[in-house]
Amino acid sequence: TQRPYVIDEMISAKTIAARVEDLSREIAAEFSDTDQLVVVGLLRGSFVFIADLVRELDLPVEVDFLEASSYGNAMQSSREVKILKDLRGAIEGRDVLVVEDIVDTGHTLFHVIGMLKARKPRRLRTIALLDKPTRREAQVKADWTGFEIPDEFVVGYGIDYAQRNRNLPFIGKVRFTDV
Ligand code: PRP
Ligand code: MN
Ligand code: MG
Repeated sequence: TQRPYVIDEMISAKTIAARVEDLSREIAAEFSDTDQLVVVGLLRGSFVFIADLVRELDLPVEVDFLEASSYGNAMQSSREVKILKDLRGAIEGRDVLVVEDIVDTGHTLFHVIGMLKARKPRRLRTIALLDKPTRREAQVKADWTGFEIPDEFVVGYGIDYAQRNRNLPFIGKVRFTDV
């Protein structure tokens, strides 16, 4: 059984779209020297962001996906990250942009960066739509961030709460109504 909640809009679809446009311009500038770019989305949360981002990118790109699952281990302070689905393609010598929806503790992105660097890409960059810097446990920061947000429970634009609400076109804040 689930606690009842409502969702309050925090970042509108329009505001997100404008930011994605700006970010795509910066990314296009960074990668203007290559036709070897692979844009890697981290499943599942990044699927909306990566779809919007690559459609704004005026560059030849390939799209690939990686699924990493992070989970807490009650016995330890550090988090383990498992790879549930690996990339289809090789990235050695390629230019790689990792796309994440949100960096929270940072364990997911930290682990993925380490794993992908070991494959010797030519260049590896990261972008996250949202960043919650106050929650950080792993030493990591995306090269580009859409919005820094406070420590709120957010959903929408790919981000779920118990697998729901990924399809909301905006970023919303979960507010529990039973308190
Ligand atoms: C969420 C989110 C990020 C990660 C951030 O993914 O999409 O990938 O957690 O948390 P962290 O910085 O503390 O590691 P989740 O594991 O819920 O999977 P999902 O993308 O399929 O929802
Ligand atoms: Mn995720
Ligand atoms: Mg999730």
